[in-house]
Amino acid sequence: MSEPIRVVVTGAAGQIAYSILYMIAKGDVFGPNQPLILHLLDIPLMMGVLEGVVMELADCALPLLVSVVPTDDPAVAFKDVSAAFLVGAMPRKQGMERKDLLAANVTIFKVQGEALDKYARKDVKVLVVGNPANTNALVCSQYAPSIPKENFTAMTRLDQNRAQSQIAAKVGVPVANVSNIIIWGNHSSTQFPDASNAKVVVNGKEVPAPSAVQDDAWLRTYFVETVQKRGAAVIAARKMSSAMSAAKAACDHVRDWFQGTAPGRFVSMGVLSDGSYGTPKDVIFSFPVSISNGKWQIVQGLSVDDFAKERLAITGKELEEERSEAFAVVNA
Ligand SMILES: NC(=O)c1ccc[n+]([C@@H]2O[C@H](COP(=O)([O-])OP(=O)(O)OC[C@H]3O[C@@H](n4cnc5c(N)ncnc54)[C@H](O)[C@@H]3O)[C@@H](O)[C@H]2O)c1
Repeated sequence: MSEPIRVVVTGAAGQIAYSILYMIAKGDVFGPNQPLILHLLDIPLMMGVLEGVVMELADCALPLLVSVVPTDDPAVAFKDVSAAFLVGAMPRKQGMERKDLLAANVTIFKVQGEALDKYARKDVKVLVVGNPANTNALVCSQYAPSIPKENFTAMTRLDQNRAQSQIAAKVGVPVANVSNIIIWGNHSSTQFPDASNAKVVVNGKEVPAPSAVQDDAWLRTYFVETVQKRGAAVIAARKMSSAMSAAKAACDHVRDWFQGTAPGRFVSMGVLSDGSYGTPKDVIFSFPVSISNGKWQIVQGLSVDDFAKERLAITGKELEEERSEAFAVVNA
């Protein structure tokens, strides 16, 4: 067994955290030989609820969980952490404009960036789940100048997992037979789920997804829209937003970041854009990445047709607009 590492989950009294904490604490992310100290951050009003979560974690009797630190103080929450799951955010309330939601949230991520800068390990890996996730991650990294920019990422893995499951169902194969789906851009309805470079194993043979699906019209319309609107469909059915699947996706994202991707395989992550594929620079844009030794790299040389280029431009423009709105708020 190695030395325990410290991992923080923010929004720890919320619904995504309720699933994430169990998955992390039983070894799904850092492996079966990595003991953990979990730091749980939420707002003062939620400390009572958080106490119940701490009781349940104890009652799970998980061998890897060395201790739990519940707190409403970012200085305690971010102290010496190796990984940060930034889930906590202000939910959209009735009558709230998108701009108001962005303003409330970027302020939270400015404060948390400053706290990470001061208290976390300099090699901390940060995943932002709280929405607007891409722009929150950008703001957070801006306020943590002592931590490398590549250590800040935003979650589009839930969209990737949703897309993978749609393709598997359409072809009639297990979900594990589908790989290399790409989510481009923002984690919002402008995202572009793209299966044109994906692979599917059919009857023991790996083939390009478009030839397995054999329905280009479906791939360009129904598939794209279903993935883009899946979050809203879950809310309509459950009366609450995706939580179990969001938690699983966050764990997949951070596990692959720490443990790497298999040769020839890639996953989608919101990372700082270097302008690859004609995208705007210096926004957190979801790209296909391969990962080794804890470092991600944008996969280069994939085919992007005119249909895809148009969609990349739309989602890139939205991210540039969010960036201007966000920095107008934090610089005010
Ligand atoms: N990127 C994605 O794919 C994805 C998917 C699903 C949900 N989300 C987002 O994840 C976020 C959390 O969702 P949820 O369902 O768990 O919400 P929730 O409302 O159940 O929980 C959020 C928790 O965050 C806490 N919180 C608020 N401000 C905080 C702060 N400054 N510091 C610490 N904690 C704070 C709240 O008190 C609450 O306990 C939302 O923003 C949601 O939109 C993202």
